[in-house]
Amino acid sequence: MKPISVGLVGLGTVAQGTLNVLANNREELARRIGREIQITHVGARRDRDGVDLSGIKVSRDLMDVARDPDVEVFVELIGGCDYARELIEAAIESGKHVVTANKALIAEHGNALFEKAQAKGVTIAFEASVAGGIPVIKALREGLAANQIRWLAGIINGTGNFILTEMRDKGRDFSDVLAEAQALGYAEADPTFDVEGIDAAHKLCILASIAFGIPLNFDAVYTQGISTIDLMDLDYAEELGYRIKHLGIARRTDQGVEMRVHPTLIPESQLLANVNGVMNAVQIHGDAVGSTLHYGPGAGSLPTASAVVADLVDVARVLTADPTNRVPHLAFQPTHLDDLPILPIEETVCPFYVRLSVRDEVGVLAHITRTLADHNVSLESVIQKDGVEGEPVALILLTHSVREKDVLAALGQIEQQSFVDGSPVVLRCETLGGVA
Ligand code: HSE
Repeated sequence: MKPISVGLVGLGTVAQGTLNVLANNREELARRIGREIQITHVGARRDRDGVDLSGIKVSRDLMDVARDPDVEVFVELIGGCDYARELIEAAIESGKHVVTANKALIAEHGNALFEKAQAKGVTIAFEASVAGGIPVIKALREGLAANQIRWLAGIINGTGNFILTEMRDKGRDFSDVLAEAQALGYAEADPTFDVEGIDAAHKLCILASIAFGIPLNFDAVYTQGISTIDLMDLDYAEELGYRIKHLGIARRTDQGVEMRVHPTLIPESQLLANVNGVMNAVQIHGDAVGSTLHYGPGAGSLPTASAVVADLVDVARVLTADPTNRVPHLAFQPTHLDDLPILPIEETVCPFYVRLSVRDEVGVLAHITRTLADHNVSLESVIQKDGVEGEPVALILLTHSVREKDVLAALGQIEQQSFVDGSPVVLRCETLGGVA
């Protein structure tokens, strides 16, 4: 059979990895598909040292690739939203299947793109957009298709996990670790996407839609990054038996769907608490299967290329399948997506970690616990660090499961007291189905 002709735009870290995987595993891939995958046309605005494109047509205008009538599958690896969207729309328009690693594009414009692709009878594959090399979209969409997904929680930003791990293990400075993650090719072009949680929010939005069969709704994801995490909170969490991880959490409740990304205390005995460095992991809880854990490298050239090439294999296998018999983009039939309400963050119910800086005086603890009790907030643990009488000391509180708005209302009152110095640090905890 004649090889599948693939057009690729972008020559960055993931694109170079993709070229390498396709070259290194050419025969193995052909044995899997029954045809060879051949990159016939590359779009890149400039040459890259060390990238061998001999025998491949190269265009400076990326649109030439999207419109090339000889290209059957269009691989978009340039990132960003606007131009990537134009390119993909042009490729769909000219009847090409699309493979992309672009989480921002899928999270923010996926609904419209899927509709276009559906109308044209082509498919958009995006496994590489979430958790790098972990086939978590495939697992959720196909392997767990029997289940009603109750919740999922994931470490889905490698850079953020790398930073938190290095800070905790080596006491390293935040910005120093971030610079290393950038040099290693883990971080986004704009690293604030990593440290402020936007990258994780893109990925969580995609996972939640596939888990629950809801339209993509990126704007509804509550997003908080790790840039304000202090070494001292990593240590206090540890004293309480927890680790702080940057989690994306999606949960279906009777009232609606929670979608939130934030630093989270999780019991140190949980597997997720032990996912370190650039590794990602997603724990998915289905009603039939219970909890499953999907672990692997979440960023980097070859791991992400592994997902891109797996998508190419998938697309190659379905090239001839009737579009109505393909696996739907968001796992559920487009006509059966359910527009469930997304819950506001104040309605979240979980245990909370609170660090207050207070003067060590008679009656302070009594005042704080009384105010918390007045707002239905009950405490599980209290740690007060040694201090000098009259000077501020750290007071660490761990609550039982309570509604977020109740904790915040109580803390709003406590913060006004003259014995409190500055604003409290408040972090959410999750037991992930276990007992805290
Ligand atoms: N910047 C991302 C991360 C790359 O660190 O996880 C993979 O999406």
